[in-house]
Amino acid sequence: MWWESPGHLDVKNGRLYIAGMSAIDIANKFKTPLYVYDGNRIMDIYRKFYSTVKKHTDLEVRLHYAMKTNSNRKILQLLLKEGAWIDAVSPEECKAALEAGFLKEKILFTGTSVSSEDMKQLVGMDVRINIDSLSQLKRLGKITTDAEISLRMDPGIAGAGHSWRTMTAGKESHGVPIKFSIPENQIVEAAKLAKDYGFNVVGLHEHIGSGWRTSEEVNEFLQTVDIVLDKAKQISEFCNLEFINFGGGPGVRYQENHPEFPLERYAEETCRKVKESGVEINALCFEPGRYIVADSGLLLVEVVDVKERYGDIIAGVNSGFNHLIRPVMYGSYHEIINCSKADAKPEAEVTVAGNLCETGDVFAAKRMMPMPEEGDVLAIHSAGAYGFTMASRYNMRSLPKEVLL
Ligand SMILES: Cc1ncc(COP(=O)(O)O)c(C=O)c1O
Repeated sequence: MWWESPGHLDVKNGRLYIAGMSAIDIANKFKTPLYVYDGNRIMDIYRKFYSTVKKHTDLEVRLHYAMKTNSNRKILQLLLKEGAWIDAVSPEECKAALEAGFLKEKILFTGTSVSSEDMKQLVGMDVRINIDSLSQLKRLGKITTDAEISLRMDPGIAGAGHSWRTMTAGKESHGVPIKFSIPENQIVEAAKLAKDYGFNVVGLHEHIGSGWRTSEEVNEFLQTVDIVLDKAKQISEFCNLEFINFGGGPGVRYQENHPEFPLERYAEETCRKVKESGVEINALCFEPGRYIVADSGLLLVEVVDVKERYGDIIAGVNSGFNHLIRPVMYGSYHEIINCSKADAKPEAEVTVAGNLCETGDVFAAKRMMPMPEEGDVLAIHSAGAYGFTMASRYNMRSLPKEVLL
């Protein structure tokens, strides 16, 4: 199976094992619906990302884990021990990161449509604020100017992402104007304004979108690196920049035909460009989220109802898009593994449907898989990022449980 990964996901006698434990035993013990995360996998991937970048640069490398992808406290604490920094998007995330043990200096808040009320809370927590608009800058100036801030810039060319909804750079995506960041043609003026206000501008930031993985998309990202470096040089003439932050975005394989993210080239070329630019900074920052946690997590659900309708087989499960919204929101593909027939041949065309009263509440439509039976446990693969954090109580259903192995 393309998703097998020794020690993380194994198949023995047809059964799925997660981190060496039988998925069915885990489901019996903790009850479904249940998110299961493999902590060793998270640490391995974090270390791989860090060491791949670090080997190409003498600068300090900071990985700001994008906690919007998975803010489970135990996962935050694992990453804290690994030396991670934090990318937070709301005062609530900042608070959760502080409570998990992160130092305020290691938390960078990057929000959008940020209210003055939000900023008062952020100033109260004394975290660093990455400014998204001139309005935000001016309103922060009314609260305090005694702050180290960074500026989020738009590189002025189209972003990248697995869906138009996750592309965050350029003028628009799918006809919808992009709401994020300060355009590149205003960024130097914004830095001057910030300096005039008395702020200490310590960083320049970009994030072009989430879930890109092809080499063409990496090429697009690398073009934006040049643009950011050019602006960083101009800003460095009047501000002491401590860091440049290239955001998140690296994608993962959700499907067999998805390419592996070219991490080595991404790291090597980004670091080379930074070095060649001559920009003087201390640290190079990235904000991976999905890449670190996506494939560590599986959502275990139980088949509770199997029916035939006009020739279609519908396997109803005890979960729905209230637990994992990606298939419905983005049309995303998630592999579905039958935990007791993990290597069985696909023999039936099955629609795996949730228990919400919505037609679109399906995890997979007409997918070839081993014939599911009531009582089977299905593992929805690569659900560790943007899974639980996007869960809701729609239809008044409970939130799923979570367990970290
Ligand atoms: C500013 C910022 N940084 C990082 C991320 C994380 O992206 P990903 O999970 O694709 O790495 C996001 C995601 O939306 C973001 O908005």
